[in-house]
Amino acid sequence: MPRTIIVSNRLPTKVQRTADGLTFQPSEGGLATGLGSIYRADDNVWVGWPGLFVEDESEQEFVTAQFADDSMAPVFLTENEIRDYYEGFSNGTLWPTFHYFGQLALFDDDLWQAYVAVNEKFCQAVLAQAGPDDTIWVHDYQLLLLPEMLRQARPEATIGFFLHIPFPSYELIRVLPWRAELLRGLLGADLIGFHTFGYMRHFLSAVSQLLGLSSQHGQIETPTRTVLVDAFPMGIDYRRYADAAASEAAAAHVRAYREGLKDVRVILSIDRLDYTKGIAQRLRAFALLLERYPEWRGQVSLLMVVVPSRDQVAQYQELKVEIDELVGRINAQYRSITWTPIQYFYRSFPFEELAALYRLAEVAMVTPMRDGMNLVAKEFVASKADQRGVLILSERAGAARELSDALIINPTDTKQLAEALHEALVMPEDEQQTRLANMQALVKQYDVFAWTKLFMSRLAHAKAEQHSLATL
Ligand code: F6P
Repeated sequence: MPRTIIVSNRLPTKVQRTADGLTFQPSEGGLATGLGSIYRADDNVWVGWPGLFVEDESEQEFVTAQFADDSMAPVFLTENEIRDYYEGFSNGTLWPTFHYFGQLALFDDDLWQAYVAVNEKFCQAVLAQAGPDDTIWVHDYQLLLLPEMLRQARPEATIGFFLHIPFPSYELIRVLPWRAELLRGLLGADLIGFHTFGYMRHFLSAVSQLLGLSSQHGQIETPTRTVLVDAFPMGIDYRRYADAAASEAAAAHVRAYREGLKDVRVILSIDRLDYTKGIAQRLRAFALLLERYPEWRGQVSLLMVVVPSRDQVAQYQELKVEIDELVGRINAQYRSITWTPIQYFYRSFPFEELAALYRLAEVAMVTPMRDGMNLVAKEFVASKADQRGVLILSERAGAARELSDALIINPTDTKQLAEALHEALVMPEDEQQTRLANMQALVKQYDVFAWTKLFMSRLAHAKAEQHSLATL
C-alpha cells in the first residue's frame, strides 16, 4: 500500500544528552505538535533531524533503532551542518527574511553552500525510504530546495510541499542572492501549500517577477510541468486539547496553581523565544496597562512561558537578555509583598500542565510581529470548555484570517494592546461566550486531520490531472 513520507528539518521527537545518556522527548513548535497527531496512521514514515549532534556510530545506530520503532528515520547532521545550515542559512537568513526582519538577515555564500549540501543529504535519506508509489510531503523553509532535488531523481514522484511560515512580499524575497534557486527548488513539487491566500499571492508574484512564469487560478506553467499552489490554513488536534483541558488532571493542576495565585486573574503568554513573537512589546503593553489602570495592580498577573529556542543564534541570545531585563524592571516597579505582576518561566511545560494553563487563563495574548499561522491561538480556543476567556490576537498572525472573533490588534501599537487587555478583563461573560463559540466551531471543524486530508486529496488530484494531460 502506498505510504506518505513526511519530511521536515526536525523530527517530532528530539534526542537529548543527559547524565543518564540519550533521552527522547517531544519536540516543541507548531509543525511537530501539529503533524505529530497524524503521522503514525497507516505505514507512514517521518524523515528528519533528531535535534542533537550525535557523532558516535554506535549512538547513531541506537537512535536509528529507537526511531524505527516509532516510524521515524533520523538524518544526522554534523556540527558544521548544524551551525551553517540550521543556525546559519535557515535561521540566520531565511527566517528573518520571511518574517520581514530583513535587516537581521545574513548573506554568506558558505551558509548557502551548507544549505544546498544538507538539502541534498535529506534528498538521499528520503530516496532511501520512498518507494515509487509513495507520496512525499516536504515541510518548511529549511528544505526549500528538496522538491526539485527529488524531482530530478524521481521525475514521476508525487511531491507536496507546505510552508509553515509566512511567504513575504516580493520586495523581501528579491533581496536574497539565491532567490531564483530557492523558487526553482520549490517548483519541483506538484502542490505547494501556504497558510493563507496572502502568502500564496506573494509567492505567485515572486515566481512571475523573478522567474517570468505566469499563473492562472493558482496553476503555474513551468517549461516541463504544471505546479498547483493553494492556501490550506493549518489546524490543531482539537479533541486532544479540549479533552486535556477538561480532564481531572488539568483540574487538579489548576487547583494547585490557584492556591499560589489566590484570586488573582491570569493573562497567559506562551511562545518559543523568538524576535518574531513580539514578547518584549507584549511586556511593555502589560506595563502600560498597570500604569494606565492602577486598579488592576494586585488583581491581575501575566503568566509568561518562554520556551528556549535556537539559543546558539546571536539575536536569540540578545532577546533573552532584553526579556529578562524587562521582566525584572516591571516586577521591581509594581510588585508587592503578596503579588507578582509577571510570573516568568523560561522552559517548556509538559502537555498536561500546558492544558491546565490554558484552562486557568482568562486572557491569552498571542501578539506576534509576524507568524505563519500560530497554533497557540487555536489551542487556547479549544481548551475553553466553559466558553469563558478572551483571545487577543495579532493582525499579522496567519490565524487572524480565521479567528476574527478575537480582539485583533496591531502588535507594534503598545497603547492599543494595553487597551485591548483592559477591554478583555472587563468583557461581559455573554460576549466572551459568543466570541469563543464562533471560534471553537471553526477550529473544531478545520482541525489538523481535515487539513491533512484536504492537502493530500488536492495533491492526488493535481497528480491525476498531470497524468491525464500527459496522455492527451
Ligand atoms: O514555524 C516554523 C517552525 O519550523 C515550526 O516547526 C516550529 O514552530 C518552529 O519553527 C521550530 O523551530 P526549530 O525547529 O528551529 O526549533
